[in-house]
Amino acid sequence: MDHEEEHLLGSEEAEQVVRAEKAAKFQHERRRTLPWVMGGIAGVFAISTLLLLAALVWRKDGFTDGSKDATYPDPTVPDHSNHTELLSLTSPDGKFYTMWWSTADAYNGNVIPHPRKQDVFLMVAHERYDGAGAHKRHELFCEAHFQGNYLVCANDAVPLPVSDPVPNTCPEPFQRRDGGPRDARVFYGPDHPYVIYGSLSQYTCIGLWVQDARMLLEPFRSEREFVEVYNEITEIGRPEPWSVIEKNYFLFWSEGKRYAHYNLYPERHFAELDDDGTAGTDLALVTAEQDGQCIAKYMPELGPGKESIHQATNSLSITLCKRSDVNCEPDENNTFIMEIFHHKTYFNFHGVYEPYVVLFQSVAPFAIHAISTRPLWIHGRTALTEKTRSAQYRGPGKTIPSGHTEMFYITSINWRTVGQHYHGYLDDPVFLGFGIEDTRSGVMDVRAGDLMHGLAYC
Ligand SMILES: *[C@@H]1O[C@H](CO)[C@@H](O)[C@H](O)[C@H]1NC(C)=O
Ligand SMILES: *[C@@H]1O[C@H](CO)[C@@H](O)[C@H](O)[C@H]1NC(C)=O
Repeated sequence: MDHEEEHLLGSEEAEQVVRAEKAAKFQHERRRTLPWVMGGIAGVFAISTLLLLAALVWRKDGFTDGSKDATYPDPTVPDHSNHTELLSLTSPDGKFYTMWWSTADAYNGNVIPHPRKQDVFLMVAHERYDGAGAHKRHELFCEAHFQGNYLVCANDAVPLPVSDPVPNTCPEPFQRRDGGPRDARVFYGPDHPYVIYGSLSQYTCIGLWVQDARMLLEPFRSEREFVEVYNEITEIGRPEPWSVIEKNYFLFWSEGKRYAHYNLYPERHFAELDDDGTAGTDLALVTAEQDGQCIAKYMPELGPGKESIHQATNSLSITLCKRSDVNCEPDENNTFIMEIFHHKTYFNFHGVYEPYVVLFQSVAPFAIHAISTRPLWIHGRTALTEKTRSAQYRGPGKTIPSGHTEMFYITSINWRTVGQHYHGYLDDPVFLGFGIEDTRSGVMDVRAGDLMHGLAYC
C-alpha cells in the first residue's frame, strides 16, 4: 500500500501526541541555524578553493562523507548534520535525478540497467492518480536515459501487464480497496530480474506477489520461453500469523536457496521460499537473541507518537572490499546481504522516512551483522515547502506543516552496471530508487561503499 493509505489508518492519535513535539523540534532547528550560517560564511571565504579541490578528489574516489559537505548552509536545506549525505556519481550537480514520465506522474520508482544496452535503463514506478474516487492502479514502465538532471522515458510509459490475481475478500473497512498492483519493487536476483508487488491475497486482504520480470518487461521478451520459476504471478507465502495488509517483503538468496524476509523490527521474520511460493518455517528464531541485542543497541530509537521501523528495499549481496583490489576475495566473512530500512515518523499528517542500511550474514544463520548509526541523506532533498509540489498539499485549504523535510522513500537498490545482478563490491556503482512525497520519483547513483559509512557492527 502507498503512504497515503497507510496514514489513514490511525493517524488521529499521532496528531494529538505530536503537536507539542513538533513545536519543540522546530525551535530546536532554528537554534541550530545560526552556527551553521557563521561556519558556512567562514568556510566559503577562507577555504573555498581547498574545499572545491577536496570535493573533486572525494567525488573521484567515490567515497563521500556528507556530514562535511562544503555547500552548507543553504536556507532551504534543513540541518542534516546527523545524516550521511549521498552525492550522485554522475549527475551534473551531485543531486539526485528526477524520473520523467512525460505525460504521467509516478512515484516510488525503481531503476535497473537494461540487459544489454549500456546507456539505457529500465524504470518502473507507481502511477499517480489525481482524480476522485476509486481507480485502477498501475505500475508504469519505460526505457529511459539520463539527460541533465533527469532520467527520461525514451518512449511512452506503459502499465505493467498485471491484474488482480484473486477476488477481493477483504474485511471492512478494507472492502473498497482499489484494484491493481501497489508498491512494485523491480530488482535483480542472482540470475534474473524480479517484480514484487502488493495485490489482493488468497490468504489475507493484501499480500505480496512475485514474478520473473522477464515476463513483464519488453526488453526481456526474447527470454520468456526459458523462464521456469515464477513465470506466472505467485503469491509469497509466510509462516503464521498473517496481517490484514502484508507489505514490504524482500527476497534474498544464499547458496542456491531463496528466502523471503518479512520483517526486521520489532521482530525479525524470514523463511525459505519454494518455487510455488510456499514458505518454510520461520528461521529468524535461531538468531533472535543476538539480533535482539544488536537491534537494541543500534537501531534508531523510536520516540513517542507515531514512529515505526519498516524494511524497505530489495536486497543485494556485497563484499566489503574493492573489486579493484587484487586481494579481495569474497568469502563468508566479508560478504553480507544488504538492505535499507526506514525509521518512519508521522507528525502533523505528514510522514517522513529516514533510511538506514542493515547488513546480515550471507550464509545461514543470517545473523544481523551491522546497522547504520546515522541515516542517509540524499543530496537534493530539502525542506518541505510549496516548491516540493507535494500532491498532499495541492488544492485550497491545505497547509504545509513547517519544520518538515521532504518525504523521500527508498524503494529499491540495484547495481548500475549492465550484467551485474545480485553481488557486488564497495567500489561498484549502485542505484537508489525512491519516491518523493507520493508524487514524484527520483534515482541516485552512488558507490556501494558510500552506503557503508558509520556502520555499527553487532
Ligand atoms: C543529532 O544527534 C544528536 C545526538 O543523538 C541529537 O541530540 C540532535 O538533536 C540531533 N540533531 C538533529 C538536527 O537531529
Ligand atoms: C571466517 O572466519 C572464521 C572465524 O574467524 C574462520 O574460522 C574461517 O576460516 C573464515 N573463513 C574464511 C573463508 O576465511
